[in-house]
Amino acid sequence: MRSTNSLSRRQFVAGTGLLLSGAMAQAAGPAKPAPRSALALHGGEKAVKGPAPSLPIRWGEPERERLEAMLGQKSLFFWKGPQTSLLVERVRQVCPLKYVHTCSSGTAALHMAVAAAGIGPGDEVITSPITDMGTVIGILFQQAVPVFADLGPGNYNLDLADVERRITPKTKAIIAVHLLGNPCDLDALKALADRRGLVLIEDCAQAWGARYRGRPIGTVGQFACFSLQDSKHVTCGDGGVVGSGDERFGPLLQRFGDKGFDRIGRSDFGVLGANYRMSEPQAAVAAAQLPRLETIAARRARLGNLLTEKITGIPGIQPHQVRAQDRCVYWHHMLRLRPGAFRCDRAGFVKALIAEGVAASTSIMQGPLYKKAVFQNHGFFAGRWPIRELGLTDMDYTKQSCPEAEAIYQTGVHLPLHQGMTEEYILGAAKAIEKVARHYAV
Ligand SMILES: Cc1ncc(COP(=O)(O)O)c(C=O)c1O
Repeated sequence: MRSTNSLSRRQFVAGTGLLLSGAMAQAAGPAKPAPRSALALHGGEKAVKGPAPSLPIRWGEPERERLEAMLGQKSLFFWKGPQTSLLVERVRQVCPLKYVHTCSSGTAALHMAVAAAGIGPGDEVITSPITDMGTVIGILFQQAVPVFADLGPGNYNLDLADVERRITPKTKAIIAVHLLGNPCDLDALKALADRRGLVLIEDCAQAWGARYRGRPIGTVGQFACFSLQDSKHVTCGDGGVVGSGDERFGPLLQRFGDKGFDRIGRSDFGVLGANYRMSEPQAAVAAAQLPRLETIAARRARLGNLLTEKITGIPGIQPHQVRAQDRCVYWHHMLRLRPGAFRCDRAGFVKALIAEGVAASTSIMQGPLYKKAVFQNHGFFAGRWPIRELGLTDMDYTKQSCPEAEAIYQTGVHLPLHQGMTEEYILGAAKAIEKVARHYAV
């Protein structure tokens, strides 16, 4: 791990982010006495000079060229479309899988994977509670049951031991979310999945260009699912890609996103598939984006690691933990505040960071998902959940609990990070974090 001050589960779960208790402050180690420079919030000088760099326009000549080529085509339909073919070829350069299909979103990619894996009514799929709804929408539409496992306190990815604890005879798959671009421990998850006869699906939506021990993410599990939605490393506004190197599942993918057509043999509609097709204009833009990915991923990795390096060791701050052998591509950076370490709450800390000129926020995506009303009410289908009514599951989301994920949700500080940022900004942000942490240190 790059970060050295990882916290025990108990430490983080105990206080979940509010004001300190003496006992917690002691457990966290005494704060170093340090000069408290005037916060920008109180009229002091800002740690970050100038505004936080904004994300530049991410398209230009390559996209124009692709779109112009596309305008010369007789059809904008995906099947055998030159833009789609080029996109597939370029995705294979990033994630070398035999079967690669374009689709309309990351959500669609995940649904196609879950469907192709044969997951159906009452089956259970274990996944992360802090993620986008798109991770679980496909599970629910297959009438299967998302089961949430807890997360590691510093890497924010699935905790292997907790995944194992939640496996039941109904479990069919694990969806490993590479949260914020940080690779999950794929070898360990794959070994567990193989041992228990489960399918491993990688949710790579936030992790374009990430590498696990030198290998591209998406190549260890049976499925790789990517999003091309606007906030992702590469994008066409909305879109997705699903891939598989597995001969059992790869050939099935196509039909689950193409209304049941397989487009190679007869269309006998042996399966029910949604229309998740991506059309040629989106494929043209996405194909033009992909050659930029390596530069974007490398830059984000460098900036994110620099931030981690500079804030490691600040009392009360837990930086984003990334294994040294992996490449995290920082969809965003997220640090955690040690409960009890500061005289302010998380909102106060973030307010002070923003005043220092740092792009920071307390909102950490959507999570834990099981706390959302639709889960708490079990009201997925017109206010009802047929599989529960039929006795195919006794899942009760009001009783789900992932203490570490809940603590992450309470103590995390979200630091947007992108390729438009400069080292100067990152160094300023690190200074601001240190300044605010020292100011509010107990
Ligand atoms: C981890 C994760 N999974 C799935 C999705 C769904 O992707 P899309 O928005 O393209 O449907 C997202 C989108 O943000 C995501 O972040």
